[in-house]
Amino acid sequence: MATTDPTDQVATLCEQLTREEKLRLVQGAPDPEGTATGYVPGIERLEIPPFRLVDGPMGVRAGGFEEGLSATAFPASIALAATFDPDLARRQGAAMGREAKARGQDAVLGPGVNLIRVPHCGRNFEYFSEDPALASALGAGVVEGLQDEDVVATPKHYVANSQETDRVTVSAEVDERTLRELYLPAFRAAVEAGAGSVMTAYNRINGTYANDHRYLVQEVLKDEWGFDGYVVSDWFATKDTVGAATGGLDLEMPGGSVADAFSFDAPDDDGEEDGDHSADASAGPPEDVDLESIFTGGMPGPEQGGVFGDSLAEAIESGDVSPERLDDMVVRILGQLERIGLLEGEGATTERDDREGELDTPEHRDLAEQVATRGTVLLKNDGVLPLSDDDRVALIGPNVDEATVGGGGSSAVTPFREVSPVEGLRDRAGEISVARGVPEIESMSFEDLFPFGDDADGDQDDGPEPTVEEAVSTAAEADVAVVFVRDATTEARDRESLRLPGEQEALVDAVADAADRTVVVVNSSGPVELPWREDVDAIVEAWYPGQADGDATAAVLYGDVDPAGRLPVTFAPEDEYPITDERRYPGVDDEAHYEEGLFVGYRHFDDAGVEPTYPFGHGDSYAEFEYGDVEVEDGDDTETTIRVPLENVADRSGREVVQVYVRPPKLKDGPERPVRELAGFAAVDLEAGETRTVEITLADRALARYDEDDGWTVDPGEYVLEVGRSSRDVRSTTALER
Ligand code: BGC
Repeated sequence: MATTDPTDQVATLCEQLTREEKLRLVQGAPDPEGTATGYVPGIERLEIPPFRLVDGPMGVRAGGFEEGLSATAFPASIALAATFDPDLARRQGAAMGREAKARGQDAVLGPGVNLIRVPHCGRNFEYFSEDPALASALGAGVVEGLQDEDVVATPKHYVANSQETDRVTVSAEVDERTLRELYLPAFRAAVEAGAGSVMTAYNRINGTYANDHRYLVQEVLKDEWGFDGYVVSDWFATKDTVGAATGGLDLEMPGGSVADAFSFDAPDDDGEEDGDHSADASAGPPEDVDLESIFTGGMPGPEQGGVFGDSLAEAIESGDVSPERLDDMVVRILGQLERIGLLEGEGATTERDDREGELDTPEHRDLAEQVATRGTVLLKNDGVLPLSDDDRVALIGPNVDEATVGGGGSSAVTPFREVSPVEGLRDRAGEISVARGVPEIESMSFEDLFPFGDDADGDQDDGPEPTVEEAVSTAAEADVAVVFVRDATTEARDRESLRLPGEQEALVDAVADAADRTVVVVNSSGPVELPWREDVDAIVEAWYPGQADGDATAAVLYGDVDPAGRLPVTFAPEDEYPITDERRYPGVDDEAHYEEGLFVGYRHFDDAGVEPTYPFGHGDSYAEFEYGDVEVEDGDDTETTIRVPLENVADRSGREVVQVYVRPPKLKDGPERPVRELAGFAAVDLEAGETRTVEITLADRALARYDEDDGWTVDPGEYVLEVGRSSRDVRSTTALER
């Protein structure tokens, strides 16, 4: 077992700590200030300060489960991925880092880098992509930004955490090659980008809980990749003292029982505890609410308040866990405290406002809007967009009065400000008429899963019932009807269907019939079915845009910015994804068999020869781009750079995402390979008429496959490089011999 190599300061501290103090450092405890999601008590005697971990991943969720302390609410991670812009991810990571510090927090529980395998997964909005190269690049960007601000990044949930159904018990049955080529790369990239921590998943992998998975945690993550930070459990996920300790877990969270955790009472902005927090569960959740199924699967560890603490002390006494392993945990945790500067100065006796942060600055607000606009994907445009200032616009949709800030669960951020579609469009367009058409689609939250407190029944809408007739007549009087539709998702529950909930499809049909021209804006967590798409003139996928929703969407609709998003997931009818067999998803006998292997997302659609509704990488622009001939600068086996001339032939500026896919050689009797795989990309802004040569260095291992005996292997043969606008819109190709 490789241990870390501590600095002198950390090694000395570790020597000075008593066994009891070490045990305190490796297990969470209630935060006396009530702001942290996870809290590690300090050791005052040695001036080791307390350490606070906070959710993640789309903003800082300090303070509590429902209405926490406010922070900038960034768009969904899938929207960030749609920007294909790792630098933007780095800037968002840095902004979240500054906000975390302003809230007295030291680690952010994010980014979420799980690969999107199941289009229904309730947390897809927290993840990046169905493609490992894209998820790796964006995840690494967020990690770099956080760590640059001296805040520990926590890529999660390691690994193969692809579904919320049975999330705490299901075993992902997945072969080594598929793990290596699809599910592990984004974690490896995050580690290479300097992540100080990794969070384990709730689920099992090939029968073993992620927390106890010695092969994946100790051998792959730590020994093979050289990860020297700490591995933290997902909340209440630990089951087995010896399994977790010898498997490589370093920090157990949150340390108490589920019941303890849901009886917190966080302070308000003024720092006062007022007992009136919306997640206040002083009364506890009602008895019929099954918290266990959501967090623990009924396993014993969490009910007892964790598997470290006294149980770990006993396991060390009995020799089942070595004292060196405990030291290694401590060294890994203290090493990160040292790295972010927490061991300088007077440690535990120091007031924590010495860490300078920033909250809700104009720059952070602008960044939240920029990510939202750049991540917006123009799925279809018959010419109706961008809207003109003279268009009389009817704004229609059940939820147009509220911003789609995010999805439900631990990622839900309470913004200081939010802009609804009505506000954003009115601000940009002046007079618009508004009709809701059909009943509101209620946002989902943890409260829907375990309704506690006074708000148990959710918001009551007291206004008159909206009608489709009203929407139709409003649409008929306008030049353009803009219809906003949405899904509603949350952590801990998968979507039942990829169809839009409620009566929204009927609303779109009716408006499209009545209106001169119809634009549909979709706010969804991932792929949705668009059965009406031939009947409308334009479709905009805006994901969950965060606090800037209305402003960002208005800017795109009016062409103030070019919609620069490209699909990080394939859109297709739900029965065409490769997980329709229940053995694969949600699984039988608590096992989800990843029998599709490498053929997830576009890899499946290419292999099966099925035309998706909108392919991976797709997204229109208001500008128009012409590609010249791609040239390869043939580097060595590890690095290849391509150059392609790109011209914006439109009379307006625009932003193009140049994508490079590799088609590996067909191996005679050799292992299967996907038809094509994303190998590199670059987002470029071009003025009207501007030409530029775009240079892209292909990702490490872009040509390789993982061989169980030989590791990453580049087979000899011809590799075709396809350069273009999407996985199905190739503009120039060239070949490479290896
Ligand atoms: C989620 C994690 C989250 C943690 C703390 C868990 O339920 O899976 O992503 O960071 O709770 O809120």
